[in-house]
Amino acid sequence: MDLTGKTALITGASRGIGAEAAKIFAKAGAKVALVARGADAIAELAGEIGPNAVAIPCDIARYWEMEQAVANCLSAHGSLDILVNNAGVIEPIAHMAEADPDAWGDVIDINLKGVFHGMRAALPVMLEQGGGTILTIGSGAAHGPVEGWSHYCSSKAGALMLTKMADKEYRDQGIRALSLSPGTVATQMQREIKASGINPVSKLDWSDHVPPDWPARTLLWMCGAEADGFMGDEVSLRDQAIRAKVGLA
Ligand SMILES: NC(=O)c1ccc[n+]([C@@H]2O[C@H](COP(=O)([O-])OP(=O)(O)OC[C@H]3O[C@@H](n4cnc5c(N)ncnc54)[C@H](OP(=O)(O)O)[C@@H]3O)[C@@H](O)[C@H]2O)c1
Repeated sequence: MDLTGKTALITGASRGIGAEAAKIFAKAGAKVALVARGADAIAELAGEIGPNAVAIPCDIARYWEMEQAVANCLSAHGSLDILVNNAGVIEPIAHMAEADPDAWGDVIDINLKGVFHGMRAALPVMLEQGGGTILTIGSGAAHGPVEGWSHYCSSKAGALMLTKMADKEYRDQGIRALSLSPGTVATQMQREIKASGINPVSKLDWSDHVPPDWPARTLLWMCGAEADGFMGDEVSLRDQAIRAKVGLA
């Protein structure tokens, strides 16, 4: 996949799947805009990637910060062709009767509203350009309940609907909106899940998780026409046929 001449804005690029995606997209020729709250981490990664990377500190839970991040991406790189809605959180993990309502809402603000904020800020730019690709990291948690994860499951179910909505409203104007369900991935998020000890996911061995470059390479594949059949839908990295197409199996 050659992304020369394309610009990708990747949220949650300070570590994990987002950081891998930034490196892999840049290697494929893209100019990248790295978004996260951790300014030092994205600045360091941008330095490592080189002049085609810019670090944009931003809390995606606040719309005005996301809107500014898109504006900063445009002034640094001149366009926005690919949005990767990757940033997400799972803490605090808690049963519903004990969950702190404000902290529960904070997760919705990031995982669900943050995805809407990204789409809302990027869509006018992409529509003006005649099209663009919006990739959102989903989860198996969008499809079924997982103990202790009422906030996370609800937010991922909603985020999947946002992909379907973007596809419904804008496919005919050149917008490619797709979701990626990555399976379990060896990142900080899985460390937090393990520490909670609450559900079967927390009991998995580290070796059960795929490395973060697997979803990152799949995101790159999803930028191409071969993934067009998944527009408005989800690509599952548990699917062996997808792994084979991406070159992971
Ligand atoms: N790991 C898995 O097994 C797994 C499975 C299914 C889906 N996912 C999804 O994959 C995505 C990436 O997760 P990961 O596993 O790579 O986790 P991670 O290593 O914990 O990374 C999460 C990223 O999101 C950023 N972030 C969190 N809140 C943010 C906010 N308010 N504004 C901007 N950035 C924010 C973090 O940066 P800062 O803290 O610096 O802001 C960090 O870069 C998430 O959407 C997650 O739900 C992960």
